[in-house]
Amino acid sequence: MKDVYTLADLENWPAATAGESVPLRVAVLGDPVRHSASPPMHNAALEERDIPARYCRLHIRPDELSEAFQRLKAADFIGVNCTIPHKLGALPAMDEVDEQAVRIGAVNTVALRDGRLHGFNTDGPGLVRALRAEFSVDLRDLRVMILGAGGGAGRAIAVQCALEGCERLVLVNRTVEKARLLATELAPYFTSNRVLGPVDRLEPVPWENAALRHQLENVDLIINATSVGLRSGDPSPLPASLLLPHLMVYDTIYTARRTSLLRAAEAAGARGANGLSMLLYQGAASFEIWFDREAPVAAMRAALLAHVRQPVG
Ligand code: ATR
Repeated sequence: MKDVYTLADLENWPAATAGESVPLRVAVLGDPVRHSASPPMHNAALEERDIPARYCRLHIRPDELSEAFQRLKAADFIGVNCTIPHKLGALPAMDEVDEQAVRIGAVNTVALRDGRLHGFNTDGPGLVRALRAEFSVDLRDLRVMILGAGGGAGRAIAVQCALEGCERLVLVNRTVEKARLLATELAPYFTSNRVLGPVDRLEPVPWENAALRHQLENVDLIINATSVGLRSGDPSPLPASLLLPHLMVYDTIYTARRTSLLRAAEAAGARGANGLSMLLYQGAASFEIWFDREAPVAAMRAALLAHVRQPVG
């Protein structure tokens, strides 16, 4: 299997994949896509479940996306994941879109069934399962603060929090206007007048230490959905001095085992986990959509860990 295939390969898929003993019928579409950890994770699952299909990377540029979907049908694909920058662009190309994906406005999983494209988004459900695995908690029971609520990942998480009816949702974004717009959109989900004391159930909050300090006393879980932490020298998006021991801190970044934010959480006596579990469970949820059977999570986790080989950090 090549590291990366292209639209030109898809034009004649049998020829491009002639050397494969098992047909390549699942893929991730991205630009760039070479870094994607999805192939080792899904191929471990396909092997574990004895499914005669393999998963590969497809480098598809934005202007190639709709043609790529037509070719995927002709090449008899079972399903694909969409990653950057295709999560938004895939949505209008679908024949049917699951309600969750409509609300998020993005598709990360496509199932090809009888020549039709069905769009889903498993990022939110993946987070719910990850939080259960990491902290033994349910998202719906929590007061949640999302850092980077204005980005794509933050939006998907915020919509999931709204759909779950979480206790409280605090939307933080460097550009606060984006958090305000999202709060307006999600307001209908937070209309019940649960008594929570001196704070609202849904609040957009500017990225300022005084405002954050006040909010953190009324929050159980912080989720970092910003890109801060992706590079090894990045600072923590929140200083340790703001963090409190009762908090759970989930960093969606998984390129380091312990990001600066997770080190700050530990220094404050708070619990923390990185984003590998979200990657794992969004993949498990995609697998379950495509193959209608339980995903072999242990095999997928082992393959992911071997692939990512996280620096100790
Ligand atoms: P996406 O494609 O998901 O929108 P992005 O543009 O990289 O990704 O932004 C992701 C999030 O990280 C955004 O919420 C962004 O904040 P802005 O909306 O204000 O741009 C946030 N982000 C990126 N760098 C940041 C930084 N240095 N401090 C705080 N937030 C940051």
